[in-house]
Amino acid sequence: MSTLESTKRYHVTTFGCQMNEHDSERMRGMLESLGYDEAPSADDADLILFNTCSIRESADSRFVAHLGHAKRMKKERPGVVVGVGGCWAQSVKDEVFERFPFVDVAFGPGQINRLAEFLTSDDLSAQGYFEFEGFPAHLPTKRDRPFQAWVQIAVGCNLKCSYCIVPSTRGREASRPFEQLLDEVERLAADGVREVTLLGQNVNAYGRDLRTTDPLPEALLPFHAAAKRPTGRIAGVDDEAAAARPRPRTFAELLMAVSAVPGIERVRYTSPHPKDIREDVVAVHATVPEVCQHIHLPLQSGNTRILKRMRRTYDKQRFLDRVEMIRAQCPDIALTTDIIVGFPGETEEEFQDTLDVVERVGFDGAFTFIFSPRRGTEAAEMTDDFVPHPVKVERMERLVEAVQRHAKARTQRFVGRTLDVLIEGPSRNDPDVLRGRTSHNKVVNFTGFGEPGETVPVEITAATSQTLTGEMSLLARLGA
Ligand code: SAH
Ligand code: SF4
Ligand code: F3S
Repeated sequence: MSTLESTKRYHVTTFGCQMNEHDSERMRGMLESLGYDEAPSADDADLILFNTCSIRESADSRFVAHLGHAKRMKKERPGVVVGVGGCWAQSVKDEVFERFPFVDVAFGPGQINRLAEFLTSDDLSAQGYFEFEGFPAHLPTKRDRPFQAWVQIAVGCNLKCSYCIVPSTRGREASRPFEQLLDEVERLAADGVREVTLLGQNVNAYGRDLRTTDPLPEALLPFHAAAKRPTGRIAGVDDEAAAARPRPRTFAELLMAVSAVPGIERVRYTSPHPKDIREDVVAVHATVPEVCQHIHLPLQSGNTRILKRMRRTYDKQRFLDRVEMIRAQCPDIALTTDIIVGFPGETEEEFQDTLDVVERVGFDGAFTFIFSPRRGTEAAEMTDDFVPHPVKVERMERLVEAVQRHAKARTQRFVGRTLDVLIEGPSRNDPDVLRGRTSHNKVVNFTGFGEPGETVPVEITAATSQTLTGEMSLLARLGA
């Protein structure tokens, strides 16, 4: 059977993080290049794909419920091909076929190109499982929004956070070559992209595994070790020798280079690791207008003993110091975070430390999770998980209350200000109202006019903990 001759239809259901969203765009791009069309729902598709996540147990169960539906469809229409990709597939590997015999193909992240091989092979009934191989950079993508794009700057993760399954599903960390990334951003900009989000598990580790003899941008020299060379060097001779010596790339220079691509108006990234967030990156936030006024800095816990057991490699004070360093240079920046409650052995006192950091920092928003043991991780083996579930739920409620209270207080600072809003489309509740986002990553519903992808000035009139309301400022727009 050749998929190239008939118009087959595919449907992809995506679970998990932006990495998976982006991988799904590449699956869709690749399938369309093979001649497939996108079906509006899995019920109408010949190829039903799931791009899975395994970060918490809830992610697994959500996906397994969807698989049940695919099984029923396959009974009704036996020719349907069911494929399972992503982190869950990578974590269970061949077991996928034992547990779900109706699955035809399974593949880990970074295996999308092998999916194409499978689909164009003669025997689609053979089950296939493909291991992680490398970076599928050359794949076309099919984006949801023409003016926004993800750019994956690194694969994998070299850290060993004891609760986390990602290092085992996405492999070792590897940065994509700097020039290749800039080419990609240039192509995206030429294609109408105005905002890029750089993706990686630990984005500020970008470039440590790369080497270049390109000079560092002038603005970053004060932060670079070479600039702090001891006195007594021979000017000219030593400087030239230092310049010729290959050096690692840095995340800060990548941010600057991406921001300088003509057409790119906004640059975001996720996620940095608190241990690696350095002055150079913060200086770029402070001085390069394209780099957004938002940093997502995952705290996980505010308690030093728990952080150690999580293998996060920073303690409570170090996190607070990093926040202070960021706010000293960028007082208005939005800070968001991820927090886990009920890590094995977490006492009430230790949880209080998390609340204390939340009170002291005053995040603009936070994703909060109850610890979920993941197969194969160190924390899943910790036997002192004595915190009863109702206690975890109760801690979560207190945490969410504190997070919301600060988020609400923080958004009030925007009321009365005129902010640049990148229009994303009509508002979810009212088609006559537009919806967009500020540089701080706050959603704004506003009255006015403009096309998706356009940036317009909006006067903010009200704010809740999550969203802002406003009116487009005609004067500012005409003046612009
Ligand atoms: N690499 C990114 C994000 C990883 S996953 C980073 O380090 O920031 C996103 C979030 O899921 C994590 O920040 C963490 O808060 C949460 N998470 C990961 N594993 C978890 C687990 N086993 N139980 C509960 N939450 C978890
Ligand atoms: Fe997981 Fe930690 Fe790596 Fe993030 S940094 S992906 S939490 S191991
Ligand atoms: Fe993302 Fe889930 Fe994998 S959060 S990296 S899709 S386990």
